[in-house]
Amino acid sequence: MLEQDWFVADDGQTQVWPHQALSKKRMQIYRLYRFLTEVEDILAATDNDQDRLEAIHPLVRQLLTDSAWLQYEIQPPDPKRGWSVTTLYDEPNFPLTVQTVVWLPGQTSPIHNHATWGVVALVSGQEKNTFWQRRSTDDSPQKIVSAGDVLLHPGDTISFMPDAIHCVEAMGNEPTVTFNIYGLTDYQARYKFDADAHTATLF
Ligand SMILES: [Fe+2]
Repeated sequence: MLEQDWFVADDGQTQVWPHQALSKKRMQIYRLYRFLTEVEDILAATDNDQDRLEAIHPLVRQLLTDSAWLQYEIQPPDPKRGWSVTTLYDEPNFPLTVQTVVWLPGQTSPIHNHATWGVVALVSGQEKNTFWQRRSTDDSPQKIVSAGDVLLHPGDTISFMPDAIHCVEAMGNEPTVTFNIYGLTDYQARYKFDADAHTATLF
């Protein structure tokens, strides 16, 4: 199956982006430090989150193609919690979150937004992403309604706008492993949602 690049808008609507050819031919292995340098350059060049995602997601694809070691940079999930996170790069005042995440089969995340741009690539397993949108900005308490879903396969990427609301579910019989990169989170705008109780609480 062709690897796909998904985009999720702030209202939970999805589209498939055409594959982008990388602008320059790479003669060397595309290493994590080079990827991070180029992401920093993109962030400095534009404040527009969609433009950032359009520029960053092909680099994520290139990184995963060249850096097979990333799939082994994972922690086994705690069986009770069902997931684990491994930080791949951390530097004081460095405004990016770069990590691998593992979910055990059958586990589902809370419904949440990220309050920043993000690109996730599926390294292994199958992950269902379900999207939501606010029914109306006038609702109090907030009500969200389903906005569809997609099933991600290894090699797929998915780019999220800051207010895209989703939950993920690890499908099949094996854990899901994802590579994730996020910008600077606005914690005053990062919520967990309960679709039945119509509550939105700060993450
Ligand atoms: Fe998420």
